[in-house]
Amino acid sequence: MGSKTIGAALGVVATLLVGIAIWLSVAYNVAATDMHADAVRWTLDTTMHRSVSSRAQDIDLPESVSDGMLSQGAEHYAASCAHCHGGPGVEPATWSRGMRPEPPHLVEAAAEWEPKEIYWIAENGIKMSGMPAFGPHHGREELLAITAFVSQLPGLSPEDYTAMTSGGGHGGTAAHSE
Ligand code: HEC
Repeated sequence: MGSKTIGAALGVVATLLVGIAIWLSVAYNVAATDMHADAVRWTLDTTMHRSVSSRAQDIDLPESVSDGMLSQGAEHYAASCAHCHGGPGVEPATWSRGMRPEPPHLVEAAAEWEPKEIYWIAENGIKMSGMPAFGPHHGREELLAITAFVSQLPGLSPEDYTAMTSGGGHGGTAAHSE
């Protein structure tokens, strides 16, 4: 291939890149009131699922979960997650319905994820989505408790949820940092 051909090919590539950059900056609507197109949503969802499941495989979770851990997880969930993700019988906060992507109701959505993946998501968050990383300020014990609770969310009744989150007795040792 001559250097002229390479030069021409590079020219075409550069023109395409400039075109894409202009399209992204001018034509693409960043408003959260504008829904993601189906193709964009599908691409983001698929990328997110694959990325999470490949990274979560090495996470080590305990074999069993104690009641104390579950109720600790419930308190964390009510304080840090429910306003975006709702709970059994509890709607998410109105403002969170203005986010794109809209945070899913975890009572249903948690059933699609393995506990390791839930742990990974809570620890690391999801870029460009508004799902925060809790790892930087929550220790392994707290993340394990949150994971245990979220894994049980799909089978939990509104009554159980209210009982677990009404803040009875468990009085943790450390001050809550939510
Ligand atoms: C400020 C809002 C917000 C808070 C607070 C929040 N999340 Fe999320 N979360 C999101 C959004 C938005 C997504 C969707 C990400 C996507 O689809 O790309 C998400 C996705 C998830 C998912 C994947 C569900 C799915 O099927 O897409 C899990 C699991 C999750 N969050 C767990 C948690 C837990 C556990 C907490 C609390 C420790 C929490 N989130 C707190 C906004 C939030």
